[in-house]
Amino acid sequence: MKLELNSGTVSYVDAGNGPAVLLIHAFPLNNTMWASQVAALSGKFRVLAPNIRGFGQSQPSSAWTMEEMADSLNEFLDKLGVKDSAVVGVSMGGYIALTFWSKFPKRVRQLVLSNSRARADNETEKNARNDMIAAIEQSGAAILPDRMLPRLLQPNPPAGVVRNVRKMIESTSPAAAVYAVMAMRDRMDFSSMLHRVECPTMVITGENDVIIRMEDSRAVADAISGARLVTIPNSGHLSNLENSEAFNAALLSFL
Ligand code: MLT
Repeated sequence: MKLELNSGTVSYVDAGNGPAVLLIHAFPLNNTMWASQVAALSGKFRVLAPNIRGFGQSQPSSAWTMEEMADSLNEFLDKLGVKDSAVVGVSMGGYIALTFWSKFPKRVRQLVLSNSRARADNETEKNARNDMIAAIEQSGAAILPDRMLPRLLQPNPPAGVVRNVRKMIESTSPAAAVYAVMAMRDRMDFSSMLHRVECPTMVITGENDVIIRMEDSRAVADAISGARLVTIPNSGHLSNLENSEAFNAALLSFL
C-alpha cells in the first residue's frame, strides 16, 4: 500500500484489526523483514510496517534525520486514523522508535527496542559510518551484502535466511543506504532520557549479536523503569528473522 506524506510517498503493509502495532525495520533492509511478525500478529492486532524513506517503494531517496522520520511516522499514523500504537523497532528501527517516543510519547502505548541502543555513536563508530558512506559512493550498494551479512547474522546461518537477507540488501539503492547511514551517524543520545519512558517497554537482544552488544541492551533495560529484557537464543543481530519463533513468542507475550 502507498500513502502520500509531506516527506513523499510511504509504502507500507497494513494487515489485521485491533490495537495498532508499528514495526520499523533495520538497515539496510526493508519491511519484508517483518513477514513472520505480520503473520503472527495480524490475527489480533492492526500491524503497520512502513518502509523508511528510500527503502522498498518509499520515495524519495533524500536525506533525513531521525527527528524528521519521527515526524513522518506521526503523520503516517494521523493519516491512517491511528491514535496510539505499540512501537517496535529492530536496530535502526529502534533508533527511530526511541526518537518517535521522545517527540510523541502519548502515541506510544508500548515500546519494543530490539537489537538497538539508546546512546549515540562514539567517534570510532562515526568514523566507520563515514568509511561506509565513502565505500558506497565509490563502489555502489553492491559492497553492502558482503560487508553486512557476516555482522548481521550469527555464524553458520540457515541458507534460507542468508538468501532472504541478501535479497533485501541487494534491493537497497545506494542513495537510500547513504542517507540512512548519515541519519544513524548523526542521531542524538537518548541515554539520559530513558528514565522518562513511562510506557511498558521490552528490550530484546540476540544471543550472538555482534553489532549491538549485550551491555548496550542491558544499559537500556536498566535505565527504563520496569523494562523487560529478553535474549533471543540462536540469533545474531536480526533476531526477528533468525529466530522468529522465539521473537514472536516474546512479542506476543509482551503485547
Ligand atoms: C541496523 O541493523 O539497523 C544497523 O546495522 C544498525 C547500526 O548500524 O547501528
